[in-house]
Amino acid sequence: MNSEPHGHTLDIDSIGESIPLLEAMRSARSIRRLDSRPVPQALIRKICEAGTFAPSGGNRQPWIFVAVTEESSRHWIAERYRNEFREYIAPAKLAAQSSDYPQVKRRNMHAAIHLAEYMHEVPVLLFVAGWTRRGEPQTQSLFPCIQNILLACRAVGLGSSLTMLHRHFQREVDERLGLSVDTPSCAMLPIGWPLGKFGQPPRRSVDSCLFFERYTGPELTRKQRT
Ligand SMILES: Cc1cc2nc3c(=O)[nH]c(=O)nc-3n(C[C@H](O)[C@H](O)[C@H](O)COP(=O)(O)O)c2cc1C
Repeated sequence: MNSEPHGHTLDIDSIGESIPLLEAMRSARSIRRLDSRPVPQALIRKICEAGTFAPSGGNRQPWIFVAVTEESSRHWIAERYRNEFREYIAPAKLAAQSSDYPQVKRRNMHAAIHLAEYMHEVPVLLFVAGWTRRGEPQTQSLFPCIQNILLACRAVGLGSSLTMLHRHFQREVDERLGLSVDTPSCAMLPIGWPLGKFGQPPRRSVDSCLFFERYTGPELTRKQRT
């Protein structure tokens, strides 16, 4: 048992154990509006442990997790993220002024803006890093682990999303986190108790992308693919 502030008592062993896997997958949309209440360390440990069950090249398990919870560090990271994000999102903001800008994209943009503006209030900024092999980061071996963590968050009721924009100031942040060039960070997952609800993320139908034996769909132009 683990006592959580705000009166709830969390049973770390049992939390998240009963949701069916496929239901969790179908409802694990990015949650970027998060409460600032702290998340117990034991729960952070539980979701990271879920990450460690992921496959990796040669089962080398290159992952390293750094959970940033300390207020001054969160402010430090959030300030840098926000600066990069404002530049990154500017073209989308401009495009969204048009009334025919798709509603789904608009919602996503607003949620991403909210995350950037309030990132300093997010209780856990979880960095997933990993050691390099033959001088190359093993990101391909980190993404299955990252996805497991996102699903574990869904299972235990924590909101999360996958971000990589911190890589614009990666060396600076890695140094602060004690990560060397041999163990670079790959992704940052802002994690906290959700203010919104879990739900099915907007996706194109599987029928538009599943083929048997041979691809028989339309030839996609470069523009359609981006
Ligand atoms: C490789 C990768 C990098 C991403 N980087 C960011 C990021 O820096 N900031 C952000 O807000 N979202 C980031 N995202 C999240 C996507 O924007 C998100 O998956 C998309 O909006 C779909 O959200 P949904 O699952 O709620 O539909 C990233 C996702 C991926 C797969």
